[in-house]
Amino acid sequence: MSRIFSGIQPSGELHLGNYLGAVKNWVQLQHQHPTIISIVDYHAITVAYDPELLRVRRREMAVSLLAAGVDPNVATVFLQSAVPEHTELQWIFNTITPLGELERQTQFKDKSARQESVNAGLLMYPVLQAADILLYRADLVPVGEDQMQHLELSRVIARRWNAAFGRGEDYFPEPQAVLTPTRRIMGLDGQAKMSKSMGNTIGLLETRDEIWAKLRPAVTDPARVRKTDPGHPDVCNIYHLHKAFSPPETVKHVYEQCTTAGWGCIDCKKVLLESMDQELVPIRRRAAELREQPQRVDEVLAAGATACRAIARQTVADVRERMGLD
Ligand code: AMP
Ligand code: TRP
Repeated sequence: MSRIFSGIQPSGELHLGNYLGAVKNWVQLQHQHPTIISIVDYHAITVAYDPELLRVRRREMAVSLLAAGVDPNVATVFLQSAVPEHTELQWIFNTITPLGELERQTQFKDKSARQESVNAGLLMYPVLQAADILLYRADLVPVGEDQMQHLELSRVIARRWNAAFGRGEDYFPEPQAVLTPTRRIMGLDGQAKMSKSMGNTIGLLETRDEIWAKLRPAVTDPARVRKTDPGHPDVCNIYHLHKAFSPPETVKHVYEQCTTAGWGCIDCKKVLLESMDQELVPIRRRAAELREQPQRVDEVLAAGATACRAIARQTVADVRERMGLD
């Protein structure tokens, strides 16, 4: 049976890009496959950060994931830094990864262009990601579209290690991405991908009022200047969010109202707000309940780390044995 692994950085709040691009898939797939979800704190420290804030955000990320429907009765949730084998396997993979492949990663190029000084961890980031996945010999990795290049590198690393040390066996499977229908959510500026670093996000746990304050001024079809101008839903980010949150009849109605200039953009956004509430109110309620039970969250993370360490130790033992390191 295929195993699932995915991760999310605790570098800020869980936003709708994360939710629609990845987390919703975790919630669905956890019932069909053994699923491991990691809060990847070692990845989050590759850029400047505040330790106290990281501590808070790791917990908040755990609360958000559980509230969103990741179910610790079927899935395993843990903090990456609680399982030291991740960095051990990463070191091993560093030694079979050409520098040029890391320098070609577009996320590295983007992130390093925004930093004054670039640390080695930022360059090795995708090698740690490969170690995360391969440590559990996972086959399927549900992620957003921006992770495709990192996953390709994970496959290259698996292939290269198997060829060098696998003794004719494909010890590491080559992990495949699993995308959602909403593989790339744009930010409220309608310009860039929704992303913590761009400040164009809606948080999964934001209140209705907070969401409306962001939705109201959000960019729609730039060609639609007056309410009487017909709009082009296919280029409108609000329409794409309708497709993610509204039922099919509403999506159809929105399309008709927009293209015939029946509704103005504010009318359309009000309907979207209602659809979002349908899905997000229960999530907010569960998050509030979980914040009242911090020990419950601790227990989930501790049990997750114990289960993951058992698998991770075995993989590292196998790897050491095959590499003459036992
Ligand atoms: P990160 O917050 O960078 O750790 O991302 C966690 C997951 O959310 C990854 O699978 C990303 O591919 C996914 N993701 C992040 N931003 C977006 C977005 N704007 N649209 C779709 N998926 C996203
Ligand atoms: N790099 C991923 C991101 O920014 C997070 C991540 C780390 C990850 N390790 C992973 C995702 C392993 C999937 C599998 O979104």
